Amino acid sequence: NPLQGAQFVLAAHRISQLPADQGAEVAFAGRSNAGKSSALNALTNHKGLARTSKTPGRTQQMVAFSLPPPTQVDGQPPADVRLIDLPGYGYAKVPLEMREHWKLEIDAYLHQRRSLRGLVLIVDIRHPLKEFDRLMLEFCFATQLPCHLLLTKADKLSRGQATQALATLRKQFAAEGLHATAQIFSSSAGTGVEEARQAVMTLLRQ
Ligand code: GTP
Ligand code: MG
Repeated sequence: NPLQGAQFVLAAHRISQLPADQGAEVAFAGRSNAGKSSALNALTNHKGLARTSKTPGRTQQMVAFSLPPPTQVDGQPPADVRLIDLPGYGYAKVPLEMREHWKLEIDAYLHQRRSLRGLVLIVDIRHPLKEFDRLMLEFCFATQLPCHLLLTKADKLSRGQATQALATLRKQFAAEGLHATAQIFSSSAGTGVEEARQAVMTLLRQ
């Protein structure tokens, strides 16, 4: 597993507190409770790495994790390869002020972060493409930031339903001119984990 051995670096309340903007990083974004932190843990094979919670809006920080030396990205010093867990978005019980803060901060991060190589967009397979997800996809398209979408919690659907959800999503992408790779995923069942690891590595190598 190329993402094995990820380590917590820091949690930031604003982008100025993130690690130096050099090397390569991939960010995990998605609505509150979609399963971002669980996906990070599954991909890095480290259960307690990112805090997960039944309560939506748990991650109210940008959390940076570094990947160890074996995860060499061509030409980059190994210490400068990171994964970033972005705060969940769209949960009404998070105070408005906080939501506004993160809206601005995520927007600034996506626009300004030079080491950002790509976005992993985490979407609950039962609730595909809400407003926030569309915003993220449109942003990626506009700035030509590569995006890989994980339709997660696939264990909540039958295999047939999950395959259908992916096919519907791909049709929507084609119809709306959106560009992202997408796959079925489940942190709890381990579905699609290897495929997602390869996708993250591909993003890091951009
Ligand atoms: P915030 O940080 O609050 O925005 O949430 P998050 O997107 O990081 O979600 P998190 O990983 O904390 O997961 C939210 C809830 O969904 C937890 O109760 C998880 O156990 C559950 N969950 C996450 N992934 C899966 C999955 O693949 N299948 C199932 N059944 N549950 C999942
Ligand atoms: Mg989280």
